[in-house]
Amino acid sequence: MLEDTSFAIHPGQNQAIENDSYRDVGTVQSIQRRDGGLTFICDAADIHLQFYRSDIVRVVMNQKGVSDLESTPAVVAAVESVNVGVEETEKKVVVKTDHLVVSVSKKPFRLSVLTPEGQDIMSEKDKGIGFKENGEVICYKKMEPEDRFYGFGEKSGFLDKRGEYYTMWNTDVYAPHNPETDPLYQSIPYFMALRNGRAYGIFLDNPSKTTFDMKTEQEVYSFKGDSGKLDYYVFAGEGPKEVIEQYTHITGRMPLPPKWAIGYHQSRYSYESEEEVRALANTFKEKGIPLDVIYLDIHYMNEYRVFTFDKDRFPNPKKLVQDLKEEGIRIVPIVDPGVKKDPEYSTYQEGVRNDHFCKYLEGDLYFGEVWPGTSAFPDFTDERTQKWWGDMHQFYTELGIEGIWNDMNEPAVFNETKTMDTSVIHNNNGDPKTHRQLHNLYGLLMGKATYEGMERNLNGKRPFLLTRAGFAGVQRYASVWTGDNRSFWEHLQMSLPMCMNLGLSGVAFTGPDVGGFAHDSNGELLARWTQVGAFTPYFRNHSAIGTLYQEPWQFGEKYEAIIKRYIELRYEWLPQLYSLFHEAHSKGLPIMRPLMLEYPRDAKTYALHDQFMIGDNTLIAPIMQPEVTDRAVYFPEGEWVDYFSGKVYEGGTTHLVHAELDTLPLFIKKGTVIAQSPLQQRAITDEKELELHVYAHINGSYNTSFYDDDGETTGYLSGESVKLHVSIQCKDHQIAISCHNEMEWPLPYKKCSFIIHGLEEGQEVWVNKERQSGVWTERGLRVEVTI
Ligand code: GLC
Repeated sequence: MLEDTSFAIHPGQNQAIENDSYRDVGTVQSIQRRDGGLTFICDAADIHLQFYRSDIVRVVMNQKGVSDLESTPAVVAAVESVNVGVEETEKKVVVKTDHLVVSVSKKPFRLSVLTPEGQDIMSEKDKGIGFKENGEVICYKKMEPEDRFYGFGEKSGFLDKRGEYYTMWNTDVYAPHNPETDPLYQSIPYFMALRNGRAYGIFLDNPSKTTFDMKTEQEVYSFKGDSGKLDYYVFAGEGPKEVIEQYTHITGRMPLPPKWAIGYHQSRYSYESEEEVRALANTFKEKGIPLDVIYLDIHYMNEYRVFTFDKDRFPNPKKLVQDLKEEGIRIVPIVDPGVKKDPEYSTYQEGVRNDHFCKYLEGDLYFGEVWPGTSAFPDFTDERTQKWWGDMHQFYTELGIEGIWNDMNEPAVFNETKTMDTSVIHNNNGDPKTHRQLHNLYGLLMGKATYEGMERNLNGKRPFLLTRAGFAGVQRYASVWTGDNRSFWEHLQMSLPMCMNLGLSGVAFTGPDVGGFAHDSNGELLARWTQVGAFTPYFRNHSAIGTLYQEPWQFGEKYEAIIKRYIELRYEWLPQLYSLFHEAHSKGLPIMRPLMLEYPRDAKTYALHDQFMIGDNTLIAPIMQPEVTDRAVYFPEGEWVDYFSGKVYEGGTTHLVHAELDTLPLFIKKGTVIAQSPLQQRAITDEKELELHVYAHINGSYNTSFYDDDGETTGYLSGESVKLHVSIQCKDHQIAISCHNEMEWPLPYKKCSFIIHGLEEGQEVWVNKERQSGVWTERGLRVEVTI
């Protein structure tokens, strides 16, 4: 292939592309109040401002005379009634809400967003909004030297995206994921900018090919769409957490997954027979390694026909699923969108007869090559087809299956463009559009169809869905893994900023293939990767056909013991993780967090890509190089306690930390609390016990809450849950803990205790106003409580 040789840098190949043929929208001619917002009639286009909330403003450019305010399915929020004050002068229009000010200069139209106190949040200068006759739309914004950029969904490379250029076009990339490999499977045209601790966000609601350019110019950045509307939202902050709350207000938040989905998952392309799956489950049991899920990759099907089983390899899937479920292990099968072209296959017959597949304008079906050979593709843009596809999942739920894995849903097609012909027409609920215009929605809408279908079929139980492709809002339906990585140390390193930026983009439930998918893994890599996996929201070990098997025991006893210990640690930390999942569900906040999210005023955190936090008090600084046992760890303000050794590190500086292969550098902030339970083999158990570990301090206070429920049903949506509010006051040689359940649901624990770590001599412990003597244990003073 010539592009893999020096021909790629032939002088004739790389002429710079100039953007100056964009036409500016020009001067504001008049202003109208329309659809609850304001429309600026400009020389070349109309621009509409709509306030979704007092801190969220939407900006839509339409061609002259057109009033199209339709959103994509990414948007779920309704427009709230917002008090808006408008002042107009000869040069400017100033629109004010309680939380922000939009200032529009008229000659030409340029838009700035400020705080009510007049501080600049986001602004335009020489360049603003423009378009080309071919349908491209663009918007420029001012970039200050101190601006940092985060989000953009699933991107490789470092944490801070300043200096990068990104394309959003869902793509199946098997080639090694390098820092410059772009685009990948997900498209989330959203980012957050951080300027000296203050943040704002922008979401470009356009499902065609979009690009974000923070590289080409020094003083401006831009975002543009290949077709469709320039339709973007500004989230006014003020901190990064507020921006995520605002963005997920618009695009939605994740439902709580069933608890079993946050346990350990084992996968392989493929476990090829019922026997192999049973043997796998037995080995986990014999070795006492906790496990909640086993995946069935494409070999379970009859020649890769979705909604079938291969009768030779899997003669009795129902019995297999039921037997494993009795052991507390769930089966999750893969479901790809391509439906094999086969006139004797009922799914294909139904799809053709009832007009569910994507077609060309002229009426011919679109066919592409995927695993089953020539295949047709459901048109998920039509609700009628979503319902059909969703209902078909009864095939799986009748067997006792509660989780589905959607793959190849970019959609991936084995051809030069890697996807569907862009001239294919989508029905789009009666508003037909080409695949070029809607490409990035395919995975999201397949996820919607699948999730809702599973929900209908599961009668009150929560479904679990894993997806490879998606668009903004994908968090409402699915967990996202980062696709076909490799068993490279570099890919372990890259998975941190990748997952952190996904988390900042509203997708909290993420993780890479632990151990690496392609290429051969090894014991040391798998051990170090499992240490990280134990703390990433989604925790699955998956490997490719033709590579070494990489189950926890494959590389010998030394590694097995370490890997097992960290899978166990995951299970001990489940109460803490589950509470963080609840925070993602209720506020949109990520579980796995870059340090800048918690310390946005600490510039040392802005580019920190090789450490992360879970929640607001746990810091993880994994070792991600072979044979390395020491690393630099940056500790933000406060004091930090080594989880394993109890050693205390002073914050605000960097320390060298030693960690042999069996140790993950893991630290808890002094003065805070984490929730754990004794080791269990499955995420869901009847014998629940809660341990609240308090890291004693001399001074300071901390408030938090721990969440719990039955872990399986949708009862939590009607209040069947526990919210344990815990507050800690450390002062005058006293640690005063108060703790109460904010919900009416009774506490589901047979035992509940506080364990106080690092008590100083003379420090007293009080719980709910009563002095406690407790019992000394290896980890600290244990105080049993009844709440
Ligand atoms: C794709 C997926 C991978 C899966 C394989 C076979 O490459 O990304 O996870 O194992 O297809 O289904």
